[in-house]
Amino acid sequence: MGLEKIVGSREYRIVRLIADGGMGSVYQAQQLGNAGFSKTVAIKTILDLFAADEEFVRLFIGEAKLVADLVHENIVQVYDLGLSEGRYFIVMEYVEGITLEAFVRMHLDEEMPLPAELGAFIGSRVCRGLEYAHRRTDCDGRPLGIVHRDISPKNILLNFEGVVKITDFGIAKAREVMEQDEELLAGRLEYMPPEQAARKPTDGRSDLYALGVVTHELLTGKQPSQGTVSLLRLHQLGTTSFPSPIQEVRPDLPEDLAAIVDRALQPDPADRFQSASEMGYALEYHLYHEGYGPTNVTLGEYLRKHFPYAAERTQKSLRPRRHTPDFLVLQRAETIFGNRLEEE
Ligand SMILES: Nc1ncnc2c1ncn2[C@@H]1O[C@H](COP(=O)(O)OP(=O)(O)OP(=O)(O)O)[C@@H](O)[C@H]1O
Ligand SMILES: [Mg+2]
Repeated sequence: MGLEKIVGSREYRIVRLIADGGMGSVYQAQQLGNAGFSKTVAIKTILDLFAADEEFVRLFIGEAKLVADLVHENIVQVYDLGLSEGRYFIVMEYVEGITLEAFVRMHLDEEMPLPAELGAFIGSRVCRGLEYAHRRTDCDGRPLGIVHRDISPKNILLNFEGVVKITDFGIAKAREVMEQDEELLAGRLEYMPPEQAARKPTDGRSDLYALGVVTHELLTGKQPSQGTVSLLRLHQLGTTSFPSPIQEVRPDLPEDLAAIVDRALQPDPADRFQSASEMGYALEYHLYHEGYGPTNVTLGEYLRKHFPYAAERTQKSLRPRRHTPDFLVLQRAETIFGNRLEEE
């Protein structure tokens, strides 16, 4: 009989704290294997506040299982759902790059216009990742109904090779049980489609609205609406009188590109693009119908030029550490998942 089961265990060595997010912390870590094997990963831990809520944990595990097999260039891949001292953590692909939020902020801080073609390119790549996730089915061909529900510049990462990656797939659904409170929603509401804010059912078209807001921000430096709490009220009342056409903010935008953003931002899902594939095609047609447009290489070069410090820092933290076999044993003995942080 052939091989049926392999039993092993995983050890992670924390390299550095990358950031504290809204739900926990993200670390760069080394996944250690046999014979000195080591792979760089990112680990996301969950705050006690969330971990203590049974409903949250149940949904969190359910969604982690649902997105486990999403493998696509434009999605941050989840490798494992770990459990350490009774607390769950997510192990995922480490992205050597920056968030889209930092990308937008740099342009605003430097008063530098963000090239419209790069904005459209980033939007098109997010569409391709969404399209893949939205149409996933189970082994019997039934749609899994995966919706991201938290597409925003914080959850879109750009690596230094110019690859756009959506992260936190499946997390928003669990998070929403903790966020009945309006205050907690502040900051994420700007990207939220009216149906989601009104707690009505969402589908793939809801992510396209959020992507419309993101693309609007990339192309104009501004979100299409203002005031989070009042916006929630508008949603709850079912008011659908926003936003105004993007060309009012940026008149020089090509007609076809403006029409794509305006369509994604329609309050009624029936008036938006009906699938990520349709929106992705529209953006790609805009980008490439004249023969040549931006690629991963264009974005990668742009990022390395404008974020040299970040590129250098991540390269440094990825450099392999030279060590003798003895040192390796010591490292393994010391490996714990927890608060043991090594200075950079
Ligand atoms: N896979 C990853 N590789 C590298 N860095 C990452 C990765 N995932 C997240 N990060 C970094 O960690 C930061 C925090 O991410 P996290 O998702 O916890 O918080 P957030 O997106 O700001 O808020 P939220 O809790 O709403 O998701 C990100 O802004 C990014 O800089
Ligand atoms: Mg996030």
